[in-house]
Amino acid sequence: MAKDKKVFVCRNCGANYAKSLGKCNSCGEWNTIDEEVVRAPSKTVQAYQTQARIAMPVQDVLYKNDERLVFTDQEINRVLGGGLVTGSVVLLGGEPGIGKSTLLLQLALQNNFKILYVSGEESEAQVKMRAERLGRKNDNCYVLTETSLENIIDQFNDIDPQILIIDSIQTLYTNILESSPGSVSQVRECAAALIKLAKETQVPVFIVGHITKDGMIAGPKVLEHMVDTVLHFEGDRHHTYRMVRSVKNRFGGANELGIYEMQGIGLREVSNPSEILISQKDDHLGGIAICASMEGMRPLLIEVQALVSSAVYGTPQRNGTGFDMRRLNMLLAVLEKRCGFRLAAHDVFINIAGGIRTEDPAIDLAIVGAILSSYQTLALPSKTTFAAEVGLSGEIRAVSRVEQRIQEAEKLGFEEIVISKFNKIGDLKKHNIKINTFGKIEEVFSYLFG
Ligand code: TYD
Ligand code: MG
Repeated sequence: MAKDKKVFVCRNCGANYAKSLGKCNSCGEWNTIDEEVVRAPSKTVQAYQTQARIAMPVQDVLYKNDERLVFTDQEINRVLGGGLVTGSVVLLGGEPGIGKSTLLLQLALQNNFKILYVSGEESEAQVKMRAERLGRKNDNCYVLTETSLENIIDQFNDIDPQILIIDSIQTLYTNILESSPGSVSQVRECAAALIKLAKETQVPVFIVGHITKDGMIAGPKVLEHMVDTVLHFEGDRHHTYRMVRSVKNRFGGANELGIYEMQGIGLREVSNPSEILISQKDDHLGGIAICASMEGMRPLLIEVQALVSSAVYGTPQRNGTGFDMRRLNMLLAVLEKRCGFRLAAHDVFINIAGGIRTEDPAIDLAIVGAILSSYQTLALPSKTTFAAEVGLSGEIRAVSRVEQRIQEAEKLGFEEIVISKFNKIGDLKKHNIKINTFGKIEEVFSYLFG
């Protein structure tokens, strides 16, 4: 009979070693290697061995159209691509205290689906208290405080729910492994068993995953590969706005965004985010530009704020939240080279209002606009919005889905939108907004500041 064996596994990336190391050679992290015992496979460990399958022609494969459980919460439906697909496994990652348990309990309580909510972190009483705080009721929601995977599966079979919620994967353990809960092999085994359960019973599973300090879901990256959908719950804990973003979705578009506001009675859906993300001011201030951005399929008007001030230290500071700093440096270099601004002697700070983080390249022109407005101490027209990428030679580049951006700006009462002249727009007349097109950054500058 094969013997049990010891391995050393990196908590961060899941790499295996024969001996302990201070630094993981695979991901470069320090002090992340734990010892784990791998039990030799016995007869009882047959969890992942299924019947041998036979290959068949693809046209003969029978399938049912994705059946989806649709929540009343439109934000989560959007992020999931139109509802929760039966038999799918959704991993929800996020920092501690961001609201993962709140969101899932809220979903469990808002429809009359039969739910099994497994909490390995809180007692039944705590879950009940939270449920009362949320002020919702679902007589079909069962709570289980258990961390043994085998017991959870037994209860699952007894209750036969429509949705299974696991809060969190890091607290679960299976008897077939000796290592402690939260270790890489436990996380991997438990996740694999839950995925198998979901596929066999067609019951969708939500899994909460903790996040490490650099924002990765704790445990091996392989967890993200295994599940169907990965959602990240983001936002600053000190802001009230929270965002759920789909990072991977086998049943819908990635990068979809759902926005919530954390209130005393749980998370409230924010269905008109643009109106909230743009601050309401009477007198328009310098250093502010509005971008018509897209998050997934959703147009979103966001406010960019910039502050340019003389650098006190030799090396100017470039700092910001919600925007890639390397991209900011590139834009500053373009401004320096193409428009002749002496920005090298200035500190530049960027802030995207509301704690939003965006990767849409269309924000470039708004960033440039905000920087120049702060630099010149001249406010931009308050009813103007921007949507274009800026290239290395200062060219204004086309962006995707420009029609949708224009429509959103128009809907919110903006009078003008600045885009690239290379964007093809069907019928200019059908829009009730002035569309200004430019090809070079210098042209935009002279148009805005004369
Ligand atoms: P929680 O959902 O437990 O976060 P996670 O599971 O991601 O660790 O907690 C979210 C935070 O939100 C917590 O600090 C308390 C706060 N909160 C509210 O502001 N309003 C509410 O209605 C609830 C339930 C929590
Ligand atoms: Mg929690």
